[in-house]
Amino acid sequence: MDRNLALEFVRITEAAAIASARLMGRGDGEKADAEAVAAMRKAFDRVEMQGTVVIGEGERDEAPMLYIGEKVGRADPDAPVVDIAVDPLEGTNLCASGGIGATSVIAVAESGHFLHAPDTYMNKIAVGPAAKGCVDIEKSPTENLRAIAEATRKSVEDLTVCILDRPRHEGLIREVREAGARIQLITDGDVSAAIATGWGDESGIDVLMGIGGAPEGVISAAAMKCLGGDFQGQLRWRSEEEKERARKMGVEDFDRIYRMEDLAKGSVMFVASGVTSGPLLKGVRFQSGGRCTTQSIVMRSATRTVRTIEAVHYLQNKDWM
Ligand code: FBP
Repeated sequence: MDRNLALEFVRITEAAAIASARLMGRGDGEKADAEAVAAMRKAFDRVEMQGTVVIGEGERDEAPMLYIGEKVGRADPDAPVVDIAVDPLEGTNLCASGGIGATSVIAVAESGHFLHAPDTYMNKIAVGPAAKGCVDIEKSPTENLRAIAEATRKSVEDLTVCILDRPRHEGLIREVREAGARIQLITDGDVSAAIATGWGDESGIDVLMGIGGAPEGVISAAAMKCLGGDFQGQLRWRSEEEKERARKMGVEDFDRIYRMEDLAKGSVMFVASGVTSGPLLKGVRFQSGGRCTTQSIVMRSATRTVRTIEAVHYLQNKDWM
């Protein structure tokens, strides 16, 4: 995949981040999401590629833009053919409340290389490079914690597990506490939490466990691949109707364990821009003189280079604002 595309994608997440950050703390997540989607959709048109959205805002009849199957990019015949997974505003509630760590994210792979994940839940486990290959989502949290402790040469008591704060995780939280590990509960944003496990000691998070969105799972798998970490997931169904929709998207085995390579095959790219400030990325900061600053990361699995890009934008020069 053309590495120069990476910078083009940063422009796209920057646009979505700026558009949604304007509505930070205004209590209207739906509007912030719609602004992010519209800005991202417009920004895609400036990129020379033949892109297909495979993880997006929903199916064609339920999403006006960035729906699954939508073609994006300036489709010149020589332009690279890629599949795109987007979450224009990951952490809608975080943006609406001015909470920590809302982001705008895109993952890119060669055509056919992402799992076409249905809009259901996924049980997930993510670890950084030091614990790669030693976790197994089919094992208990306690067994995984012991394996991570051994691989990272820490005691279980020194491990920090990031878990979405949801009633469905009551049993998981109890078991992790009984095992003796520390817990960081988050209200939203498990893509950032997965990335945090691969961010080295700085993030303080050793493992993400628990159930979150399946589309976010595919995006997280792409990010973990770029970071040299590990990710596994298993779809969790809420209804027979969900299974039927998933069947139409090509899911045959409803209990399958998806390894990182099953979710994001081959060479992938991942890009994120901060919307609200968090441990990984600074959010959009609006400044005097019609300027704003953004912080983004861009990474590729081929080289595992991680770039942090700080940008100053003059908003009057942006034709998409
Ligand atoms: P949105 O930004 O799409 O609302 O997703 C936020 C999020 O917290 C994800 O990070 C996570 O995977 C999912 O929601 C969890 O879903 P739920 O809120 O239904 O538990």
